[in-house]
Amino acid sequence: MTEIKKFAVFGNPIKHSKSPIIHAAFAQQCDKKIQYRAVRVELDGFAQAARNFFNSGGTGLNVTVPFKREAFELADKLSDRALRAGAANTLTPLPGGGIAGDNTDGIGLVSDMVANLGWALRDMRVLVLGAGGAVRGILEPVLRERPSQLLVVNRTEERAVQLASEFSDLGRVEGGAYSLIGSRQFDLIINGTSAGLTGEMPDLPSSLLTNHSCCYDMVYGAEPTVFMRWAALHAAWAVSDGLGMLVEQAAQSFYLWNKARPETRPVINQLRTVLAAA
Ligand code: ATR
Repeated sequence: MTEIKKFAVFGNPIKHSKSPIIHAAFAQQCDKKIQYRAVRVELDGFAQAARNFFNSGGTGLNVTVPFKREAFELADKLSDRALRAGAANTLTPLPGGGIAGDNTDGIGLVSDMVANLGWALRDMRVLVLGAGGAVRGILEPVLRERPSQLLVVNRTEERAVQLASEFSDLGRVEGGAYSLIGSRQFDLIINGTSAGLTGEMPDLPSSLLTNHSCCYDMVYGAEPTVFMRWAALHAAWAVSDGLGMLVEQAAQSFYLWNKARPETRPVINQLRTVLAAA
């Protein structure tokens, strides 16, 4: 009999996690037998719970809010992209003992934009809103696509300035307050703020959009986000939420663990249906 491999995602809250549905769909496609559970971990219990999971034979662990930093600290070995992100969302036991940490969020975002949406980032003028953990996690893969320039703006100016200086070896990156946008225009605007979660929207001049600008919100929901509605209202050329990013980061983790590349498109479509029915 084939052994059933054990996977999980740890977070708090975790009730609405779509990861079990995504990984079950991938496993079915690739003919793998897996068990994948969403586990709510106490806020002070992450490291112990993760160690217990691996000690009891777990093959792979995804980590979500608010534990990605702790996962990074727990890992004995980190991939370059996790080191840049300062956070880990994928943990795997190392053959000789210990835990490897990786971060598939940024590559998930880039895969969604480039492969699914057809937005080639090369030579684009990119504006990133926000300078928190979510943005730190995507800057390296975005810069590796060689946009012509990247501006990070944030309500708290210093965080954006700091991020820009940390990533300046990878391309032309500037950081500062929203006022830096001025009358500049951008081909791609990525919303990495959490403002939309409370129904808020950073104050943006609509003049920053051209008639071919793409707008991407890293969060998703049953309804378009405030940022997506703003983009549509000001006639952005294309608008997307982050559902594809969620599925693509999962596909990257699935590949690390199972060495199989699932097709993501049918799973994105499946989740859209699930969201619409919720
Ligand atoms: P995450 O891990 O989701 O990135 P975070 O590190 O707390 O969470 O970062 C949240 C981001 O959303 C920050 O860039 C935050 O701006 P500040 O650094 O100034 O706090 C941004 N943000 C949250 N609410 C916002 C709002 N109402 N307007 C503009 N930016 C907001």
